[in-house]
Amino acid sequence: MATILVLHGPNLNLLGSREVNHYGHHSLQTINSALNDLANQLGHTLLIQQSNHEGVLIDHIHAASQKIDFIIINPASLTHTSISLRDALLAVAIPFVEVHLSNIYRRETFRHHSYLSDIAVGTMTGLGHQSYLLALRYAHSHLSNTNPDTTGANATWTCEKSEN
Ligand code: DQA
Repeated sequence: MATILVLHGPNLNLLGSREVNHYGHHSLQTINSALNDLANQLGHTLLIQQSNHEGVLIDHIHAASQKIDFIIINPASLTHTSISLRDALLAVAIPFVEVHLSNIYRRETFRHHSYLSDIAVGTMTGLGHQSYLLALRYAHSHLSNTNPDTTGANATWTCEKSEN
């Protein structure tokens, strides 16, 4: 059982009514409840936060230190502008996946650059609300593979010679 922080950046509180051609019809509440359902199935606890303020998001990242195992973040517009968000994620050194509902590479060129992608474990972009759910499935597999109880590092293997 792990604790995963889900962070939604500026304007994502308007999902469902905001530019539905890019972001789809699902509200943030619907996405969060689908994430909570999946987290329950996978046996993890989610802490979900949305903010329209860069500093508040940074405070959430700082507070994650020590108690959060993995971060799923849709930095929204801050993806393309925020060195502060990048520095906060580097400071806490918690593995994270960067999520986007829209395919940022099929949109305006200013959206093609991310200050976070090269320090993320990976990115999920362009798959609508599924981007979040797939990121959570990935987090589950990443955490299972890095848990010392489930990796080969601590496993004891016994080989028995068969008698023919
Ligand atoms: C977004 C893409 C960003 O470019 C944009 O500023 C957003 C949402 C997405 O989820 O597709 O607000 O992160």
